[in-house]
Amino acid sequence: MNPIPEEFQGANGTIQPGRYYGHGLPYLPIEHYPGKIIAIEGTDGVGRSTQIQLLREWLEVQGYGVVETGWTRSALMQPTIELAKSSNTLNKLTFVLLYATDFADRLEKEIIPALKAGFVVLADRYIFSALARAGVRGVDRAWLRSLYGFAIAPHLVFYLKIDVDTLIRRVLSARGMDFWESGMDLKGGDDIYDSFRAYQSKLLREYSSMSDEFGFRVLDARRPVDLIQEDLRRHVQAFLSSSDISVDV
Ligand SMILES: Nc1ncnc2c1ncn2[C@@H]1O[C@H](COP(=O)(O)OP(=O)(O)OP(=O)(O)O)[C@@H](O)[C@H]1O
Ligand SMILES: [Mg+2]
Repeated sequence: MNPIPEEFQGANGTIQPGRYYGHGLPYLPIEHYPGKIIAIEGTDGVGRSTQIQLLREWLEVQGYGVVETGWTRSALMQPTIELAKSSNTLNKLTFVLLYATDFADRLEKEIIPALKAGFVVLADRYIFSALARAGVRGVDRAWLRSLYGFAIAPHLVFYLKIDVDTLIRRVLSARGMDFWESGMDLKGGDDIYDSFRAYQSKLLREYSSMSDEFGFRVLDARRPVDLIQEDLRRHVQAFLSSSDISVDV
């Protein structure tokens, strides 16, 4: 593998929270902004949204301004991504670029303005889900990290860790398995259950392998909702009280 030139260094260099991982958005230099990015990562159906909702309420009660951002929710890209997913006719690199564009749009229009204004940005998935999904589809990992060099390193990344059997039980009791979450596009067979198990196992390995690289704080997501939330709040409290972010009370 060729080394990546320094000016193109991506999300694999030194991590400085609140700073671009690498080359950044060239037209948007960032300074030291008061806001903070807290990302909740984890695979499909693990419980991210449940935790974010509870965390948001708790932060708002304390007087923090909170902005939520979530994967594929950009106004610019959401309709295109929905369309692309409904037909499955695009190749994997095109999907990678659609997701990266969605993220860049949210970074510029939601995340950076919120950081400037001193908000806590709660991110339901961050770049790591994109790296994991593309990684298990065989996209070059160094290239992916270079691509996402425009992203800002979060201040905290919580990884909701689960085993595949617990995940299957959770997903089946909540809503069932869908085509993409089961990796059916990888054409590993017609059985959605088998495909889900194989695909999610690979994804979980991919997330775990990023844990040290990106400094994930790992939370055991097999536990009940309130225990996970307690852990989250403890970490967030410790972080925010030692930071320079102000609270409107
Ligand atoms: N710790 C938990 N223990 C048991 N069930 C849980 C737990 N956390 C969430 N759930 C349940 O699992 C389901 C999925 O939760 P949630 O929607 O929060 O997950 P998600 O990670 O946001 O999923 P998605 O990938 O679909 O966005 C819900 O029915 C929720 O009530
Ligand atoms: Mg969700």
